[in-house]
Amino acid sequence: MQSIVEQDLGTPARSSAKTVTLNIDGQEVSVPEGTSVMRAAALLGSKIPKLCATDQLEAFGSCRLCLVQIEGVKGLPASCTTPVAEGMKVTTQNKQLADVRRGVMELYISDHPLDCLTCPANGHCELQDMAGVVGLREVRYGYEGANHLVAEKDESNPYFTFDPSKCIVCSRCVRACDEQQGTLALTIQDRGFDSKVSPSQNVSFMDSECVSCGACVQACPTATLSEKSLIDKGQAEHSVTTTCAYCGVGCSFRAEMKGEEVVRMVPNKDGHANHGHSCVKGRFAIGYATHSDRITKPMIRGKITDPWKEVSWEEAIAYAASELKRIQEKYGRDSIGGITSSRCTNEETYLVQKLVRAGFGNNNVDTCARVCHSPTGYGLKNTLGESAGTQSFDSVMKADVIFVIGANPTDGHPVFASQMKRRLRQGAGLIVADPRRIDLVRTPHIAANQHLKLRPGTNVALINSLAHVVVTEGLVKEEFVRERCEIDSFNRWRDFVAQEKNSPETMEAVTGVPAADVRAAARLYATAKNGAIYYGLGVTEHSQGSTMVMGIANLAMATGNIGREGVGVNPLRGQNNVQGSCDMGSFPHEFPGYRHVSDDGVRKLFEGEWGVGLQNEPGLRIPNMFEAALDGDFKGLYIEGEDIAQSDPNTQHVTAALTSMECIIVQDLFLNESAKFAHVFLPGSSFLEKDGTFTNAERRISRVRKVMKPKAGYADWEITQLLSNAVGYPMNYTHPSEIMDEIARLTPTFTGVSFERLDELGSIQWPCNAEHPEGTPTMHIGEFVRGKGRFLLTEYVPTHEKVNARFPLILTTGRILSQYNVGAQTRRTENNVWHDEDRLEIHPHDAEERGIAEGDWVGIASRAGDTVLRARVTERVQPGVVYTTFHFPESGANVITTDNSDWATNCPEYKVTAVQATRVSQPSEWQKRFREFTVAQENFVKRANADAAK
Ligand code: SF4
Ligand code: SF4
Ligand code: SF4
Ligand code: FES
Repeated sequence: MQSIVEQDLGTPARSSAKTVTLNIDGQEVSVPEGTSVMRAAALLGSKIPKLCATDQLEAFGSCRLCLVQIEGVKGLPASCTTPVAEGMKVTTQNKQLADVRRGVMELYISDHPLDCLTCPANGHCELQDMAGVVGLREVRYGYEGANHLVAEKDESNPYFTFDPSKCIVCSRCVRACDEQQGTLALTIQDRGFDSKVSPSQNVSFMDSECVSCGACVQACPTATLSEKSLIDKGQAEHSVTTTCAYCGVGCSFRAEMKGEEVVRMVPNKDGHANHGHSCVKGRFAIGYATHSDRITKPMIRGKITDPWKEVSWEEAIAYAASELKRIQEKYGRDSIGGITSSRCTNEETYLVQKLVRAGFGNNNVDTCARVCHSPTGYGLKNTLGESAGTQSFDSVMKADVIFVIGANPTDGHPVFASQMKRRLRQGAGLIVADPRRIDLVRTPHIAANQHLKLRPGTNVALINSLAHVVVTEGLVKEEFVRERCEIDSFNRWRDFVAQEKNSPETMEAVTGVPAADVRAAARLYATAKNGAIYYGLGVTEHSQGSTMVMGIANLAMATGNIGREGVGVNPLRGQNNVQGSCDMGSFPHEFPGYRHVSDDGVRKLFEGEWGVGLQNEPGLRIPNMFEAALDGDFKGLYIEGEDIAQSDPNTQHVTAALTSMECIIVQDLFLNESAKFAHVFLPGSSFLEKDGTFTNAERRISRVRKVMKPKAGYADWEITQLLSNAVGYPMNYTHPSEIMDEIARLTPTFTGVSFERLDELGSIQWPCNAEHPEGTPTMHIGEFVRGKGRFLLTEYVPTHEKVNARFPLILTTGRILSQYNVGAQTRRTENNVWHDEDRLEIHPHDAEERGIAEGDWVGIASRAGDTVLRARVTERVQPGVVYTTFHFPESGANVITTDNSDWATNCPEYKVTAVQATRVSQPSEWQKRFREFTVAQENFVKRANADAAK
């Protein structure tokens, strides 16, 4: 538990190696060159009054409250904008300064509502604090003069209010939006007395470009910008530091609490991934955790056509275990398996794979990374020797050219996108390879040097043609390759990419990208002092996903862009703990730490610790589980916090497989799509209800801390433990820290990790062991993890998914800022005001040809199935390409995606589906069946609730 007040040193830290010594109020202090007098004084514990300054933003010098005296300097300079100098003598408190400050405060207060006692900021309003600090007792001007006290409130944003009557025009909000968020949605309009804060051109927050990140709310020193939750619930009593449960950025937050109620989430200034910033999801969209849809009682039933029955935990666990044992006795040891969750903690994920391997006695465990970043693991392991991204997020601040491939950071990884945009505004070059015009291509003060608008499915052709330019134009970093890489593999790769068939001119017909643009992009990236690649699911979710990851690694090695800050190969991993779920041994062929189950030495280690014999053959991947289920060989599945019925491709195939099983156990917060096919429902816990760790996209392990009791009685790790004990494999952990200790004992890259160490360091990037006791921000320095970097050949093989006269368009999919993945969390928040349905983006040319107008219902048919969405006619997509998000189950986006998958990892080819689009007037047959099924299943839950209440 900690206090809710965070120290604010007034201006940001400086990192200069040179220090300057000065004297403040008779005390000597040494600080890095460039530090402000205000910060130096604060470090000494001397608080100079301030209003417009905060250590999250560059100083602006507008309020004139922080004036000081400096020996030999005329007048009273503002301490926030005055840098320290060697030998400087500063006085921060005397009568003259006190009089001037009081005068300034009088002016502010004379135009401010005097409703402190009922104001939501009461107790943490900086204006109120400063009035006290300067000793203001009366306002000589009175309160009757011209003022802004009747200015109208803007309540348009669902999460915060804007009350201009309280505004002191310090412009902290404007600077937060510019500097921290990079959206530039706010301005100060007009001058003098009329000056006021305005979203865009004097519109409401909702109608402006605002993305509701909340940075301005956090920056505001008064109650002008205030969280509605704070207004409703009042000031918090304590705070607990924890980690966001949405995306792979892994932002650190202080959950400000009143008892067991979250008053608000405040991004943690000390958060190593987010440095005090956040997006709309992590800061505001947590209402799902207490939503009335949550199921908090265990339920069981014999068949999915039966109503649910609420039962005790004992009965539910005993029933689940007996069913699993019955199935294994009847159909064999390999007839059951488990799916771990990338939303749960490392410790919980570890326990599920342990239960499967040690308790079920097979390796039938897989995770949702199968459908997103499994090609990253395969491609990077085989080229660089480690399955994870190479850099810290902060590394981007040293990149000179940023190459974004198949990722949409402003929607998918918003806080990292803000940092990237900061670097781009400082002048770094930008190349975007994406079929669609993502926001980053052109956004305030940023324009991509190259937007390579490739056809979906032609990534490998593009990366080969970029490599062709590097190799044939003498842009290879020969020395790096000679010293760091396997030279034979390089020579083979060089000869391969140099072939004419890989030239941009030849590949133009395949990719659709003009050869001159490819050449310009290759030169820009290869000649940058530091070139950094960031990529996402637009790279991995293809039939050649693993090939493309290897192509990216090849290009980075050939140009020497690995092994230091500012460069690297950086997968932007999707879910909060998808990195962790892979690290924890969620794949059927690997123990924790990516060690193959067939390795006798490793297996012995685990057998020794776990006290059972373990299988030496990889188990089933998720798609193989479905096949085996349809063949009648796979009958039982334990799913923790994952919704395969919505997230996996070819929905009708998935639901047929689920229907054919005899016992599906779903552990989740809500009756998700998979739970509608389940026989046992075990109510899970949200991230607020448990202790543990998440690992973000930069391999950073951060603590998740419990702020409230589990709503259903148990944290997810406890439920897995109960199930394990019931199937006959004993587990006796009393706290997740003991699970982490076991992980550390068994995993060489985690030997230095413990809850205690995490509390000391804040967070740790693995590998963390004797060699790297504080973790490893940058990988492959001096040497690759596998020794020498290996180049692999990346022959372009077109996908089987071809357009033809029947299916002439290519459908590709992606995300939107306000919703998250299957939407189970965000759909249960007010984020729906921004996006309450998935739409089909279609180019005006394609729309006109089909008689489709904005908002029309459009039938989308593929070789796998068909669904109906409303049209959004836009030039963001190119002709021949259509696009949709997939956050709403009734959209049926995965009814149309096919079974095609990556050759190496089975990662589905979500990004390329040949479709036809036609104007229609009613939902698809699948959507009608879906609605009926959903209503029936929801009624089964209502009946269970009603029966239990009798
Ligand atoms: S809204 Fe708040 S942060 Fe913005 S200018 Fe007004 S007082 Fe300052
Ligand atoms: S919420 Fe974020 S995007 Fe919106 S105005 Fe404030 S800082 Fe800008
Ligand atoms: S960027 Fe990701 S981790 Fe950070 S607040 Fe947003 S959703 Fe959470
Ligand atoms: S805090 Fe320095 S001028 Fe406002």
